[in-house]
Amino acid sequence: MVGLVENSVESIEVVPTGAALGAEVRGLDLSKPVSDQLKEKLIELWGEYMVLLFRNQDLTDENILATAEVFGGQQIAGSRAFFLKAGYKAGESDRVSKHAGISLVSNLDQNGKPAKVTAGVGSLEALWHTDNSYVEVPPNGTLLWSEIVPTNGGGETSFNNQYRAYEELSDEFKEAIEGKHICHDNLRNTAGRLRPTAKEPESRNEITGPAHPIVRIHPLTGKRCLYLGRRYEGNSSYIDEMPDEEGDDLLSKLWAHATQEHLCWTHDWHPHDLILWDNRCTMHQRNPVDHTQARVMHRALIKGEPIISAWDEQAAAE
Ligand code: OGA
Ligand code: MN
Repeated sequence: MVGLVENSVESIEVVPTGAALGAEVRGLDLSKPVSDQLKEKLIELWGEYMVLLFRNQDLTDENILATAEVFGGQQIAGSRAFFLKAGYKAGESDRVSKHAGISLVSNLDQNGKPAKVTAGVGSLEALWHTDNSYVEVPPNGTLLWSEIVPTNGGGETSFNNQYRAYEELSDEFKEAIEGKHICHDNLRNTAGRLRPTAKEPESRNEITGPAHPIVRIHPLTGKRCLYLGRRYEGNSSYIDEMPDEEGDDLLSKLWAHATQEHLCWTHDWHPHDLILWDNRCTMHQRNPVDHTQARVMHRALIKGEPIISAWDEQAAAE
């Protein structure tokens, strides 16, 4: 944002996508300080639109981390521990940034060349998910900044509105999920591939991610959202309170419901776009990338707070 002197509430313009969620916020330079008043406004917009897009942001990793502070502080990605355990060294590898709060989401291999498959998600599709749902306290949100993106080479990212997914469930469906929790798969990355050092689970007992309520309450709005997290082929996320087959059948129906087209908005990246999404009330998915073209994104997670369960009447009433 060349020429902008100072960020202010008055200088911003909000352009809703017109889809089920998302808005572009214009008139800000996030490499510059954000006042308390502006911070309040941005958090309000985030609560309203769930996904915010800021274009033409010329940012360093330090600027991205400073932006994370605006929205509640940073959280270290769950995947970092897997990479460190597998012998990747912080700051020496593209996978593990020297900043604990930054992850590189890139399709470059160890030689810096675009590749279809890497130790991360590479150029593969990232299936619908919310970030780090496999940890006890998942991040409230995510910042993703595009350094390099392909030209007409895939890698578009879609988001969907999980308040609406909940609201549009039939009464029968709502009754079927009442009081239930999902145990979240912590063994696979978002392309459905096993993480470094993880082994293919032989039964669902080997899925050791935490159990979270299927419906959570968003602390900013007090409203209910469907919280499915992630699910892959084979032994994966499951409903804690139900036998395998019955639970799998219900999950398949819920996933089909939650990922319908009308709940969704898709972004086609340009270099230096920054997107902030809410992991409490949205899911996201990424199309496969043309593996001959580089795609390099920098990501910071926004610190989470303990999940408020819709099944906890006291918390839900507050
Ligand atoms: C992520 C993610 C999607 C993308 O970083 O959590 O899902 O477009 N990224 O790279
Ligand atoms: Mn993600």
